Amino acid sequence: TAPAAVIVAIDGPAGTGKSSTSKAVAAKLGLGYLDTGAQYRAITWWMLNNGIDVDDATAVADAAAKPVIVSGTDPAAPTITVDGLDAAGPIRTQEVTAAVSAVSAVPEVRALITDLQRSIAAEAPNGIVVEGRDIGITVLPDADLKVFLTASPEARAARRSGELKGKDPQQATDLAATREALIKRDAADSGRKTSPLAKADDAVEVDTTELTLEQVIECVVTLIEGAGAEK
Ligand code: DC
Repeated sequence: TAPAAVIVAIDGPAGTGKSSTSKAVAAKLGLGYLDTGAQYRAITWWMLNNGIDVDDATAVADAAAKPVIVSGTDPAAPTITVDGLDAAGPIRTQEVTAAVSAVSAVPEVRALITDLQRSIAAEAPNGIVVEGRDIGITVLPDADLKVFLTASPEARAARRSGELKGKDPQQATDLAATREALIKRDAADSGRKTSPLAKADDAVEVDTTELTLEQVIECVVTLIEGAGAEK
């Protein structure tokens, strides 16, 4: 018989290697891949484009249902569109990064995006790796495997800074600023009332500070194989 669809939740703060790990693991195992941070960034991009004050929670809530966000779940070529427009590039700008914690703290935004995430996961034919902040606790509490990635703030800032290199050289050189921005965003994401960033009791915590990406990928693949065998 064909193996059952495996649902994997990968949570953790920024710069722990969630995206790189999740994509690689999904590609290796033939699973779908969903970057939920990209969805929060996409709705934030739409708010900024449409003149919504992102610090006005009521205005954000009132507009939340307007944009149509579509995520493509092929780990080799994940896509995201807003009202049919390719959003993959613009959602990575500093402007969006600075505004995303405020938008994603609005309960109406979370309710809509959570529904979208659940339906994408339910429709994934071979299963899916879903990465974010609240996947194991709120979005997919029945996931077959939950992983919580951590790393020291120094390691996270260094990785994020490396990622930005080439895209935004000015930003990449300022490691201290990157570190500060990351810590600030984590505090906002962990401190918000609705679905804060947190580790589920039944999640496996993996500290990636001293690990290479290859090692983290291998670790998660082994965990998934173990979880799949239990089904
Ligand atoms: O993973 P990322 O850095 O692209 O995520 C961007 C922001 O989106 C993050 O700072 C908080 C929010 N987010 C969230 O609230 N819940 C998720 N499941 C994923 C991201």
